[in-house]
Amino acid sequence: MVKASRVGHATFETPDLDRSVAYYTEINGLVLHTRDRNTRDRSRAFLASKTGLLTIALELGGTESLRRLSFEVSPHAGFSEIAKRLAAAGVNCEKRSDVAPGLSNVLAFDDPTGTTVELFTEWGYLGSHHQVLGAGPLKLGHIARAVENPKAMADFYCRVLGFRVSDWIEEYFVFLRCNPDHHTVNFVRGPKPKMHHIAFEMKDFAHIQDACELLALRKMPINWGPVRHGPGHNVAIYHRNFDDQIVEFYIEMDQLKDEDLGYFDPRPWHHDTPQRPKTWDRKILPNLGHLWGQPPTPDFLR
Ligand SMILES: [Fe+2]
Repeated sequence: MVKASRVGHATFETPDLDRSVAYYTEINGLVLHTRDRNTRDRSRAFLASKTGLLTIALELGGTESLRRLSFEVSPHAGFSEIAKRLAAAGVNCEKRSDVAPGLSNVLAFDDPTGTTVELFTEWGYLGSHHQVLGAGPLKLGHIARAVENPKAMADFYCRVLGFRVSDWIEEYFVFLRCNPDHHTVNFVRGPKPKMHHIAFEMKDFAHIQDACELLALRKMPINWGPVRHGPGHNVAIYHRNFDDQIVEFYIEMDQLKDEDLGYFDPRPWHHDTPQRPKTWDRKILPNLGHLWGQPPTPDFLR
């Protein structure tokens, strides 16, 4: 088995590259690092967090869609060893080079929904302490996807990439961790495979408030939140970007700091003492399992 330790960046296809770059720089608050034009017959843009992490890649294409997700794996295993372990799990991969700034080589394969997973062991910061125009998240936190079979996706990510199940909401929503964060990928049952939302970690509630002010100034509705969730216990707000994708800003996500102990770091808002991974019954929580805050708007749910 290969063990993913961190999500790297998400690669999106977008029908309007200028508009997407404007969203990620002026609203989300990333920094445009590189913009290629007509590379391999397509235009691309790479965006970094203010901390210098490669966070989003954009490619001009016919429709908005999540194409690839990268994950960092342990540097102690070389690519040949990783490829061998993937093959043992029934997954064939290929090595790709010059993927993105700061990311020379990846091992790539498709997950069961056709989203490409890119594994990397070496990377470089894209600068540091950048000044940003928009909200300015600390990092890419998680990617939620609607899939036909959440159980099958959870099994794949656990079996092939070493993820662990943090929580289920009944049998329709699963949250998986690859490090102390409660979830880095999550899968909700939906009629067709599609990204459900992409989430970015903020510094604190004042940072969330700043993001609310910015969204209001830009006349971009907050379509859910502020709200504190049940599973993960994070405080979150959601809006739609210019490609109509849902974007979450969050803070205070549950941390499982010691896998041997097996419970989340004690926090005052936990339901259980100790709070362990479990299956939540959505009937005990209102409105998609949140603790406080208003229910999601129809715009979030559509
Ligand atoms: Fe989320």
